[in-house]
Amino acid sequence: MNDRVAKDLAAGDRERSIIDGLVPMDRPFAYYEELFPSRGGLAPRAHARSDAPELSLDGSWDFRYSLTADAPLDFVQGEALDEAWSEIPVPAHWQLNGFGRPEYTNRVYPFPVDPPYVPTENPTGDYRRAFIVPSEWDTERILLRFDGIDSIGRIWVNGTEVGIASGSRLRHEFDVTDLIRRGEENLLAVRVHQWSSGSYLEDQDMWWLSGIFRSVTLLGRPDGAIDDHFVHADFDAVNGEGILRVDASISSRVIVPELAIDIAAGETVRVAVEPWSAENPRLYSGRLVSSGESVELRIGFRRVEVVNSEIRVNGAPVLFRGTNRHDYDPDTGRVVSEERMRSDIVMMKRHNINAVRTSHYPPSARFLELCDELGLWVIDECDFETHGFFPVDWFHKLPGNPTEDPRWERALVDRMQRLVERDKNRPSVIIWSLGNECGTGDNLGAMAQWAKRRDPSRLLHYERDWSCQYVDIYSRMYSTHRELEMIGQGQEAPFPDADLDARRRNMPFILCEYAHSMGNGPGGLAEYQEIFERYPRLAGGFTWEWFDHGLRQRRENGEEYFAYGGDFGEVRHDGNFIADGIVFPDGTPSPALHELKKVFQPVSFVHTTAGYRICNKHDHRDLSYLRLEWELLADGAAVGGGLIDFGTVLAGESALLTLPDLPEGPGERVLTLRAVLAADSPWAEAGHEVAWDQFVVAEAEPLAPATGARPSTEADEILLGPARFGRDGALRSLSGIPVTSPTFDTWRAVIDNDRAFSWEPNEPRWREIGLDRPHHAVRSVVADDEAITVEGRLGFAGSDLGYATRTRWTASADALSVVIEANPIGDWDVPLPRFGVRMALPASFSDVEWYGPGPGEAYSDSHSAARFGVWHRTIDDMQTPYLMPQENGNRMAARRVTLAGGNRSIQIDAHSTFDFTVRRWATEDLDAAQHPYDLARSSNVWLNLDAGQSGLGSGSCGPGPLPSARLLPGTFRYGATFRVD
Ligand code: GAL
Repeated sequence: MNDRVAKDLAAGDRERSIIDGLVPMDRPFAYYEELFPSRGGLAPRAHARSDAPELSLDGSWDFRYSLTADAPLDFVQGEALDEAWSEIPVPAHWQLNGFGRPEYTNRVYPFPVDPPYVPTENPTGDYRRAFIVPSEWDTERILLRFDGIDSIGRIWVNGTEVGIASGSRLRHEFDVTDLIRRGEENLLAVRVHQWSSGSYLEDQDMWWLSGIFRSVTLLGRPDGAIDDHFVHADFDAVNGEGILRVDASISSRVIVPELAIDIAAGETVRVAVEPWSAENPRLYSGRLVSSGESVELRIGFRRVEVVNSEIRVNGAPVLFRGTNRHDYDPDTGRVVSEERMRSDIVMMKRHNINAVRTSHYPPSARFLELCDELGLWVIDECDFETHGFFPVDWFHKLPGNPTEDPRWERALVDRMQRLVERDKNRPSVIIWSLGNECGTGDNLGAMAQWAKRRDPSRLLHYERDWSCQYVDIYSRMYSTHRELEMIGQGQEAPFPDADLDARRRNMPFILCEYAHSMGNGPGGLAEYQEIFERYPRLAGGFTWEWFDHGLRQRRENGEEYFAYGGDFGEVRHDGNFIADGIVFPDGTPSPALHELKKVFQPVSFVHTTAGYRICNKHDHRDLSYLRLEWELLADGAAVGGGLIDFGTVLAGESALLTLPDLPEGPGERVLTLRAVLAADSPWAEAGHEVAWDQFVVAEAEPLAPATGARPSTEADEILLGPARFGRDGALRSLSGIPVTSPTFDTWRAVIDNDRAFSWEPNEPRWREIGLDRPHHAVRSVVADDEAITVEGRLGFAGSDLGYATRTRWTASADALSVVIEANPIGDWDVPLPRFGVRMALPASFSDVEWYGPGPGEAYSDSHSAARFGVWHRTIDDMQTPYLMPQENGNRMAARRVTLAGGNRSIQIDAHSTFDFTVRRWATEDLDAAQHPYDLARSSNVWLNLDAGQSGLGSGSCGPGPLPSARLLPGTFRYGATFRVD
């Protein structure tokens, strides 16, 4: 009996003793069902690059796929392979190489919850390859390294079993010196099972994908090799000194030429240095040299601590502008190339992201080296999630959640050790995370205790135990703005235990996940950021998540699409919940990433009575790396611009700018201030825009409706200026272009954040009222001397809710104006998706130009990235290809829109502003589509001119739109003037 078990029994004061509750695991275990199946491996150690020889065993391997775990072990000794064998690349997932199928579940286990047992249908891959140890290797030992086997690997060399590796996203090494035949061919055989006891610990929200998915390497270990080393590179912000000590497993010297350091491992030296930060990732190169090996050092000096409820690095509080990143590639799954890792980080840096949480397992070791080099703060998370116990009641029901069952402690501490040992020398990693969504339990305590002892220099994080008893940071996910604000003020709801509550109340806070980016959204980012920046206790957050994990597939006709849950015929799946990132699977930024870039910008501009100020929101960096530009627009056209000099602005400070006198003149005048990189950086070229803001310095006069033309009648039509109407008041054509009359429209193709499963579902009520099935009644059509006025009612079958509508048409010889007024009828109890009119135009229109905010889509709670300008796009380019089609492409507050095509154009001037969407299919088609390929071009272009739309929120997993972003059913009044060329 271990001490903890004894303590539990003796204490006897728990509501229900875990030990009493333990249900025996009394069926025989297969080896892959053991609670700690790993065996034969070496202790985990630091990732290192050295001059010791290495041989990559990546490449094409022999492969046999079986549906169960008990295929004959007829391949480990070098037997001839029969026709059941083919080939597979390593690293790769077998499901993406023609064996089995990907499966997506968010939290439910795709097998019966019967820990630690797994189903008999346990797809198994047998792998084999030969290798020759290079003749020049005269190393003392030879190791075999596996960087990732999902979910368990049993390994043989030349027919002898070497060991078992469990922990899919964790590194395992084996000493195979005695099994290797130097100078001859050697045979490496690996059996991989899809399911193992480890699967219960690896229930992350992602595709279930198996196989040897990270590299396999043979390592020559010379006599006198440095098996492990630990760089302690502290920084004293008071005197600017770095304090360096490198511990090594063998007598070695630490050499850092740039700092004139040449000391023994284990000795401490203090020397003036530039510290490392995500903003200025200063690394010092050096070497750790023993008699047998020279290991590369990339040293970043920094100190991480909690002071006054703030996370501070190098003495300054840090604000995480973060995102959650999974290893992901649309073609190879969690097999990620170095180019993709680098391009992920470069793209993050270009979008003002400064932090990443490696949800929910350690990434490839190379990713963290790149974070060191390019500069990101990292929360490095353990490969541990047991979310699937939640639906079966994970609290105190055993054998249940491994987090609290002491029989799993060894496996869990082992996972933590593998995380910390491998990544301990990465300066970018400033926080260890115990895992994600594993409930609560003492095993978290054991993991935390081990990590703190081994590495007191970093902070510990875990979200789902709100007592925070093992960690340094209070962390939550998907809190509302209000909750976040309360936490910022230290006013959060108390934790039941007073001591723990007091401790937690003094902790810094992060939102380890927020702004769920499923489909169109999130909204409310700017408001979150404003709160993060206001309260020192709040150290920022990590949006959910970086990538949409669609898998690239082709239809029979060759058309490419990105598959989500259910597309592989899974019976139990979670659909497009897998598509919740800010980067599309093909690597294109989604509108949300543009929004995030603007909201995260580390420089802001404010206008006060004294003038314009530039504010430095960096934690560490001054603004000398930026160049500042100004430009003045008049109705979208540049009428002036230049550079602005500004002095040194230190982190956290601001400075008044001296602007030249702005040229005066007609039109809406908008001043743009832009801060761009003054010189090339490792992640973007000189001129790259880091921050901008716009200020309206002279507003435009509202446009008066066109007048002067009188209505007349001709046969069954009423003529007015360039337009023809039916006797029912319906517009039929405009200067000969056939149109369908604008009809009132409150419907939008529901976004994931509206849906029934969301936290604030509006869709059911909207459909219940019938917003998707409107009825329009004309009550009166009056043509007088100057206008045609149509009064009517918008209603919904079976509902008494509706709108009284009035449309007033006036015209000049060449222009037609409409003024719309609508007043709600009945007791509306739900915000509207949108309010506006829609009309159908001929399909020959293809190009759009508009003046107003753009160029990307914008909604009432996601428009920070939209800037004034004159923008041009094709209709096709204005559609955002969300993996699950839904409302998209709205342009907000437009002043003027021109549609052109087939030698005709229609210019539509807003009397003040309107929102518009234009697409080649009707809203109903968009709403019904399951994939972009379902959207066929209709015989019309559909144009919506709207008074507004409800915001986006992040209700698919989090709060809905803020009250200020909901479109309440009030009175709407707006107008527009049409001109045809
Ligand atoms: C969180 C979880 C993530 C993901 C997200 C929803 O609860 O930690 O892994 O599932 O919800 O997309």
